[in-house]
Amino acid sequence: MDIVELLSGTSFFQALDDDTLAAVLSQHRRVFYRRNQEIFHEGDQAHALYVVISGRVGILKSFLDRKESMVAMMESGDLFGEMSLFDEAGRSATARAIEGSELLEIPYPPIRQAIESRPKLLWSLVQLLARRLRQTDDALTDAMFLDVTGRTAKRIIELAGEADEFVIPLTQEELAGLIGASRERVNKTLATFVRAGYIEINDRNYRIKNRKQLEIIAG
Ligand code: CMP
Repeated sequence: MDIVELLSGTSFFQALDDDTLAAVLSQHRRVFYRRNQEIFHEGDQAHALYVVISGRVGILKSFLDRKESMVAMMESGDLFGEMSLFDEAGRSATARAIEGSELLEIPYPPIRQAIESRPKLLWSLVQLLARRLRQTDDALTDAMFLDVTGRTAKRIIELAGEADEFVIPLTQEELAGLIGASRERVNKTLATFVRAGYIEINDRNYRIKNRKQLEIIAG
């Protein structure tokens, strides 16, 4: 895929003029990760941000180094690894390829230089952070006010988008992490939805049969 075309869909890069874009990309690398390969680990020192060219990347938080939960999923055109650019407090979460993925790795120094010479560029990064904070607030509210059944229905609708037939490219464990519940609870809930005729599941292929009912359950 053409990098410039891919980046034109990302607001930070869209805001760069040609010379600045060339400077920001002067040290980039295209990197490949196998399924399950770690890109970086929570707490690591950070030197670069990433844009997904193809594939999918999970953003995971760990609990007492024993359990992991996926908080977000990055897909083609999504940017991640930007938080450490601002706070230098180490990676806030672990990033791992959910499937074979090609990424653009862009070191921080030319990005810092571009921002220092044109501080207006900060707007798009601040907008990205604000969007993520809103999503986190929504997830927190869902965790407080919706039960596992409600959260599962809501996630299924979100992952489906407009489509009734779709693929969720996640293991049951990963999906449970995104829903914020144990794998057992999520499995039971999905089985209930299947029995009730709301959805059909065939491996990772899903089909929504009764969207209205799912929407009611999702609150
Ligand atoms: P950074 O802290 O550098 O490395 C981990 C990255 O995961 C972080 O930057 C963000 O890009 C991303 N990230 C962390 N938390 C969230 C979240 N709640 N939603 C979406 N992305 C996140």
